[in-house]
Amino acid sequence: MGNIRNIVILTGAGISAESGIDTFRGGGGLWEQHKVEDVATPEAFARDPDLVLRFYDMRREAIQTKEPNPAHEALAQLDSGWKGELLIVTQNVDDLHERAGAKRVLHMHGTHLNAWCTACDVRTPWRDTLVERPPCPECGERALRPDVVWFGEMPYEMERIYGALREADLFVSIGTSGAVYPAAGFVREARAMGVRTLELNLEPSQGTAWFDDARHGQASKLVPQWVDEVLSS
Ligand code: APR
Repeated sequence: MGNIRNIVILTGAGISAESGIDTFRGGGGLWEQHKVEDVATPEAFARDPDLVLRFYDMRREAIQTKEPNPAHEALAQLDSGWKGELLIVTQNVDDLHERAGAKRVLHMHGTHLNAWCTACDVRTPWRDTLVERPPCPECGERALRPDVVWFGEMPYEMERIYGALREADLFVSIGTSGAVYPAAGFVREARAMGVRTLELNLEPSQGTAWFDDARHGQASKLVPQWVDEVLSS
């Protein structure tokens, strides 16, 4: 670890699984219970906004009843103890990284806890439901939607993410299946720039072959172990 100064960490649904938040794919995953094309595309929202808003209202309510687990806590510890550059790029739309105390977090797929007004483009912290079409606190229009990146939409802050990857010495991927781009492509981008790569996941992900190292098991075990190694190096 001696020459590692700048770290980029990508997290996915697997890091929140042990907090009781469903993952998307795999047994009993969200996309087994709901069709992506019914609830997670702009077309679905145009076709049946009630169905989409109810889906995200249910998710928004659910995550507020969950707590961070040892994997979130370990990354928050790393965040406060690491002197070099660190960026936690999460695909997750829950706030468990922040509730564990992490500060250097970027939500590339948005967050459940914001409402986004499609009339005035303002994002407002939001913990309640949207299906009854409450007025936007900024402009008063009843045009609020979940601040979540749907399939076919551009993820947030991609320039900042690629900038951090360019400066990184180490890229670590935690709890993600590597099924969804552009996040699934980060390991190859990093590798092409000579960045060391590590996968921490319950099972080999779709991109596991691109990683220099991989450890498989539960995030609540693997992540604290890895953070201890990093901070004691
Ligand atoms: N510890 C570590 N890894 C776990 C655990 C656990 N306890 N439980 C599950 N995993 C792993 C699974 O093996 C799987 O590889 O987490 C991964 C979760 O994969 P997905 O459900 O596909 O979630 P994710 O990769 O985050 O999905 C990416 O797809 O649906 C869209 O926008 C959504 O951000 C999401 C994106």
